[in-house]
Amino acid sequence: MAIRNIRKYPDPVLSKECKKVDKMTERISILIEDMLDTMYEAGGVGLAAPQVGILKQICVVDISEDCSEPYVLINPVIVESDGEQTGDEGCLSLPGKQGTVTRPNHVVVKALNENMEEITVEGTELLARAFCHEIDHLHGHMYIEKLEGELKNTSYEAQE
Ligand code: NI
Repeated sequence: MAIRNIRKYPDPVLSKECKKVDKMTERISILIEDMLDTMYEAGGVGLAAPQVGILKQICVVDISEDCSEPYVLINPVIVESDGEQTGDEGCLSLPGKQGTVTRPNHVVVKALNENMEEITVEGTELLARAFCHEIDHLHGHMYIEKLEGELKNTSYEAQE
């Protein structure tokens, strides 16, 4: 288990486009394990590779209370989205802040898993929000670009 340093906004690595992963390597496999450890340690519901300084299209998401439902998404693409939800969002790269963002209420994501197998995953509400937020990171985007109103201070640490 290794906890990686989470890059904080405005670190330039957070605004770069990430490269697709074409094959699984020992290095990437370790990266994914470290990303899960780092996300859980930080109390987040998602983490994208650029947040640990790696410009690859890899993100992890787990919205469960007990860290039991990890999603590992490699080269993820949103193939369907519908509905709308407006709510507060935060980011481990911008600790202590949150802001209101509108996202689709339901998304279908195609990706590869940690075994480089094609998967299709689906999320509604918080899970849809987390998928959108993390996939945005892989293309150099932060939620603050989509902010409705002011960035607010938050007292709790649970962030995406
Ligand atoms: Ni984030």
